[in-house]
Amino acid sequence: MDHFNYRDGVLHAEDVPLPAIAAAVGTPVYVYSRATLTRHARVFREALAGVPRKHLAFAVKSNPNLAVIRLLANEGYGADVVSAGEMERALAAGVSAAEIVFSGVGKTERELADALANGVGQFNIESEEEGVELAAIAAARGVRAVATLRVNPDVDAGTHAKISTGKAENKFGVPYDRAAAIYARLNARDGLALRGLAVHIGSQITTLEPSRAAFEKMGALLRELRGQGCAITHMDLGGGLGVPYRRDDVLPGPAEYGAMVAEVTRGWDAEIQFEPGRVITGNAGVLVTEVIRVKPGAVHPFVVVDAAMNDLARPALYDAWHDFVAVEPKGARMTANIVGPICESADTFAMAREIDALEAGDLAAFRTAGAYGATMANTYNSRALVPEVMVDGDKWAVVADRIEPSAIMAAERVPEWLD
Ligand code: LLP
Repeated sequence: MDHFNYRDGVLHAEDVPLPAIAAAVGTPVYVYSRATLTRHARVFREALAGVPRKHLAFAVKSNPNLAVIRLLANEGYGADVVSAGEMERALAAGVSAAEIVFSGVGKTERELADALANGVGQFNIESEEEGVELAAIAAARGVRAVATLRVNPDVDAGTHAKISTGKAENKFGVPYDRAAAIYARLNARDGLALRGLAVHIGSQITTLEPSRAAFEKMGALLRELRGQGCAITHMDLGGGLGVPYRRDDVLPGPAEYGAMVAEVTRGWDAEIQFEPGRVITGNAGVLVTEVIRVKPGAVHPFVVVDAAMNDLARPALYDAWHDFVAVEPKGARMTANIVGPICESADTFAMAREIDALEAGDLAAFRTAGAYGATMANTYNSRALVPEVMVDGDKWAVVADRIEPSAIMAAERVPEWLD
């Protein structure tokens, strides 16, 4: 459920008509709903009522806007970060270092050292090599880094190949059948306080079976390690729960996921950690765009909008579907190709899509754009970096400015020896 609804024929974010934001800020613009973010944060937590000891860390990568992280911190969420930049954001937004989980397959020596100095709560180590490096850095400082070992369970999440992370051929974690030996070796190192295991098999997962299979394998490993005398107190189950991108999609929600987790983890006697991203932010945002013009096509007309693949990369990268609606539908429908202005054919949001009839100057919105939207934006074709707005009831605020090409250019230099 979200708070983007039509009132008197105009799409609103909570109590704010989207044309008001478009008029003030311009388009394209991302608009987030505070009420939706809050609701999703609470629904996810309540869905885990059957898990007695838990820790929720918001996957910052899904939407790293400071206002979003702050809102979730106020809801009791820590942060799952994967870079020095995300760590800096989480800290700046008010997440305490102890509530931060540092994931990622390529943490640099500098990132490891800085995170340690910042007092990050937990490192999710992705290889024996990383564990050895972290142990050395920590030992040199006379401390022990609190960590889990990320395991690759070799389970197919059944999601798009580019966002699958738990198959043996993926780069993430240590191989399942070598995990116990690696754990034992790392556990013997001075600089490490290994306390558990981590797993994350992919994103936009739309059935429960793959996660259940992965978690069951993790349970077996937990018992094996305890049998070897390892003290396992924490189990990080990652994120990955999918969201409906089409209005009529039916997929398991937080309640079904929570019940499955409660059942599988019963008897684990550990704190269970979660790293939800998309399920919190996905349906809490839309990308508002204006139609530049409609031009005829070989089969269907092209609706050329002022948002492009640099603003919302998911359709170009993953063939992702985003519902596309007129902000003020006139009742008529059309079949069209929805494209942006960028000079390559990847800049296509949808082909032969049945949509509200649109003409030049009309506003439209891509739904479910709150996760992996603005954060994946770039400035290709020397376009501006897209701005972000957060709505709260009848209030709204720009939470990220549009960064104009001139500001990007200001960071560039032409060396004097060029002439
Ligand atoms: N934890 C780890 C270790 C992750 O790698 C991810 C996502 C998450 C948690 C959060 O997953 P979520 O709950 O959001 O599914 N750009 C892609 C998605 C990439 C996800 C990467 N990892 C997209 O637009 O679909």
